[in-house]
Order: sequence, then C-alpha cells, then structure tokens
Amino acid sequence: MRQGSCVLGLAIGLWCGGAAAATLQGVVSDKEGKPVPGAFVMATQGERKMTTTVVSDAAGHFAITDLFPEKYTLAATRIGYAPDKIADFQLAVGGGKRDFKLTTTDPTDQLPGNMWVAALPDGEFKARFITGCTICHDPGSKTIRKPRTEQDWAEKIELMSKRLDIYSVIPKFDTKELAAWMIAQKYGSKPADVPVPDPGKDATARSTITIYDVGYPDSWAHDMVVEPATGAAWVGDYPYDELVRVDPVTGEQKRFKLPTKGGGMHTLHFDKAGKLWITLQLADMVTSFDPATGAFQLYRGFRKGSLIHSFAYDEQGLIKLDAKGRMWLSEFGTNTIASLNPETGDIKEYELLGKEGHTYGIALDSKGKVWFTKYVENVYGMLDPDSGQVTEKQMPRPESAPHRMSIDDEDRLWIPNSSYGTLARYDIKTDTLKEYPLPDKDTFPYASRFDGATGTVWVQGNGSNSLYRFDPKTEKFTSYRMPLNTAYGRMVAFDYKTGAVWTSLSNYPNKHTERLTGSLVRFTGVEPPQR
Ligand code: HEC
Repeated sequence: MRQGSCVLGLAIGLWCGGAAAATLQGVVSDKEGKPVPGAFVMATQGERKMTTTVVSDAAGHFAITDLFPEKYTLAATRIGYAPDKIADFQLAVGGGKRDFKLTTTDPTDQLPGNMWVAALPDGEFKARFITGCTICHDPGSKTIRKPRTEQDWAEKIELMSKRLDIYSVIPKFDTKELAAWMIAQKYGSKPADVPVPDPGKDATARSTITIYDVGYPDSWAHDMVVEPATGAAWVGDYPYDELVRVDPVTGEQKRFKLPTKGGGMHTLHFDKAGKLWITLQLADMVTSFDPATGAFQLYRGFRKGSLIHSFAYDEQGLIKLDAKGRMWLSEFGTNTIASLNPETGDIKEYELLGKEGHTYGIALDSKGKVWFTKYVENVYGMLDPDSGQVTEKQMPRPESAPHRMSIDDEDRLWIPNSSYGTLARYDIKTDTLKEYPLPDKDTFPYASRFDGATGTVWVQGNGSNSLYRFDPKTEKFTSYRMPLNTAYGRMVAFDYKTGAVWTSLSNYPNKHTERLTGSLVRFTGVEPPQR
C-alpha cells in the first residue's frame, strides 16, 4: 500500500485520505471476446505524472493494486493491436473495474528499434554504425528509420557529425559511404525476422512497472540513483541544471537549482554519510549535495573539456573510496582517469594510452586497481594508481563498443558491448573474457549494474526497450520489458529495501519518443533469481 497521498507540491484536489489502496481490475479481450494475454494495461495519473502498468495474464485478466482513488487515463496495448484508451476514469476508494477490447492492427510501427537494426547485415560496418548512431538515440525509432533518399541520409549524417556531435562520439564516417550503405540496405523498409518481445511470456508478466515523467519537453533525465535512507529517486536534469527528487509513492517532485550554469548533471551516487555526489559534465566539475540542507559544494580543477563521466561505486551503489580516501572518476572528453580526495579537494589526473577520449565505465577492484572502458577505441583497461602505469586490452572483435561497465564482488567486470549486443564478463583474476549475447538481437546496451543483494547483473537494453537480469550462476538472462516503444535507458539503480529496480530514460532528443520529457521507470515485484 502506498502511504502519504496528501502532499504539498502537488496540485490540490488530490486524494488525502491515507494510503493508496484502490485496485483496478478487468479483462483484456479481442473482438471475438477471446482473452488477450501479454497486454500492457496502463493507468496514468497526469497530475502526479505517474503511470502504473501491469501485464494481462493467460485469461486476459489484470489487476493494478495500490492506486489512488483519483482520475486516471487508462489504456491497454499490445504489439499487433490498436490501443484501447479511456480518459477521466474515476477510480473509487473501494476500487474499480474496466474491461478492454483490442482490435488487430498492422504492427510495423509498434516494433522495437532492435528489429530494424537487426535487418542490417552483421559485420564491422554495422558495428561502427551502431557505435556512432545509437549513443544519442534509437536508430530504429520511427523518425529515424522512415524512408529517405541518399541525399537526405547524407544531409542528416552530416548534421549529426558536424553540428550535433559535441562529444565527438561518431567514429569517422565517410558521410557518402554511410548514406549509400543505408540506401543499399533499404534501411527501414523491413524489420528483421527475429522474435517480437512478448511481455506475457517473460518476467515482465509478474511485475508492476511505474513510469515517472520528469522535467520539461527538452529535459534530459540522464542518470538516477535511489536514496538508501528514504527510497526517493534522484535524477539530474542535464540541460536545466536542476536536481530532482521524486517521491516514488506520491510522485511528488522537488527541484534544486545547481549554483552554476551549464553544469550538465550526469552521474549521481550517494556516499556512506548520505551525501549525494554528482558529475557536472559540461562544467568540468564535481558537486556534492546535502539532502538535509539543500546545499551544494562545487569541486573545481579538472581539465578543461574533461566531460567528467562516472564515479567508481561499491556493491550498494555508494561512492567507493580507495585505501587513501580518494574517489575515482572517468573523464570522457580527455582520455583520462581522475582521483578526487573529498576531504582535501585534491585532484590528480592520469592520462590513458591512445588518443581518443570516451572513457566510460570505471571501477575499483579489491586490490585498489582502477579499471575503465573506452567506448570508441575498443578498449578496456587498468590503471595502477601507485605506479601510474596503464594497461589497455582490446575487446576480441574490432569495432566493439565497451560501454558503462560495473564490477562484482569477485573482481569480474561486466561490460555491455553495445555494437554487438552482448554482455561481456572479464575476470580480472584469470584474465579471461567471455561474451553473452543478450536475449534480443542487436539490442545496444548502455550500462550494467551488479546487484550485491542477489549476486546478479542487470543490463539496460536499448533498442529492445528492456532491462535484462543476468545470473552468473546459471548464465541465463531474464527479460523485463518497458511499456514504451522508444524506452532509451541509461543507468540502472536499485532500492535495496524494497527490491525495486529502476532505470532512467533519456533519448536525445525526446521528440523522437512517445514520452516528451525525461522519465524514470521502476519495476516492483521483481522475483528472486531462479536457481
Ligand atoms: C550527439 C548525439 C547524436 C548522435 C551521435 C547522432 N544523432 Fe541523430 N539526432 C540527434 C539529434 C539531437 C537529432 C534531432 C535534430 C533536430 O531535429 O533538431 C537527431 C536526429 C536524427 C535524424 C532525424 C532527422 C529528422 O528527419 O528529423 C536522423 C535520420 C538521425 N538523427 C540519424 C543519425 C545517424 C545516422 C547517426 C549516426 C551517424 C546519428 N543520428 C547520430 C543527435 C545525435
């Protein structure tokens, strides 16, 4: 049951009678009256900016519990069927009933992006295309894959690489060559013949999904974190320089303005004392934030153009300090790893090998060595902070895109390889690497997160609008689907008290998606790993 429904900061007229305990139930069926299993049934409370979703069972039945007795927009959707929607549905204190009737439709525009990318021929060229063209948005979204002339493709590719690519992530493409390739492959004309995701047949069926819309039309909810003490979700609004606290129960949002302009809030982690640490990617700074006082403290002195990316963190998702009390950060823009002593403010920067930047994931192992991945150079590697020595290794396949990795409690790195749709396991102790293909072909994962509570690894799956859980013991994946067609996710976060798993969505730009703001997505009812 959700507690505390009556809050300040939300519109008046909301229910103030205590816990949210109303249940909406009904049956989803087709025109002939046959049950439709595996449909998403979504209840949206617009003022709270919350959408709660469940999946219909084999009998077409669904029940959404713990709702407020308020007005909802309801919808049932399933790939292959036109959505059935109703606005202004007043849910009574004692709950309510609503059935849905779905009629079949052409599924083309409902298919996930990976099914379009999977239609491209496998190989190094495609891997390069995925590396360059999936880092900001989903190339399988309707806007991108619509039919274009060669000239139009060339103009768009030119626009991407010359004007929009402020992070220099698009690997040097010959514009004409890529445009000609898109035409030769008839990109967007036919999806690949790979299985269509069915949320009724995977772990999604047994979970509840809540979407929280955060910010404004051009907001960018890049990373998020769950506050261990309160369960609140915190997210940085990248272009607006605002830190947002979201109450997962009531949906209430509070915004805190950063004391500097053009910060570009990127990654967030709490420390053991309950303080929040945030990288300010566009300002070459780090800030701390005290939720008790609302005070920010800025740390300057990083290289210009460093585009500070991530912190090394521990199994609980908390900032991990080394034996000398230093935190470790990756600098995406300057091919650098940095340490910051939070007590003294001392910063030390270590240049990596190679010349391209794009240092993404960072992790501190049990021996105090600092590991990193580099997105564009096909590289993962290690910095020995004592000697300053850097070792870099190549991923087995050329044009791999080792993205934002995490480390587990046995010194194994879990590296999402975006361009080949795999999760790679690098065992530091044995110096061996193994790649596991994700359940949906040509998913382009962004981040992985080790879950210390269950010993499993979560991978965020762009293109297939999914989160996957990988169990290192059984070497099997479980799929959790989001009820969105362009759920372009970034970070994964855990609420260790409730077992909820969260992710933040931020396609760039939002207008290519059906959610025009940034969003957070929470899965509850996540079952323990099946061993
Ligand atoms: C740095 C981020 C970034 C990268 C990398 C990127 N894009 Fe984009 N893309 C954007 C943004 C932002 C827009 C929206 C532009 C607008 O409408 O103003 C966009 C829009 C598009 C559009 C739609 C234009 C339209 O018709 O509205 C296409 C097609 C496209 N991108 C293709 C690509 C391809 C192909 C690649 C890889 C070569 C790529 N993008 C890489 C940011 C990016």
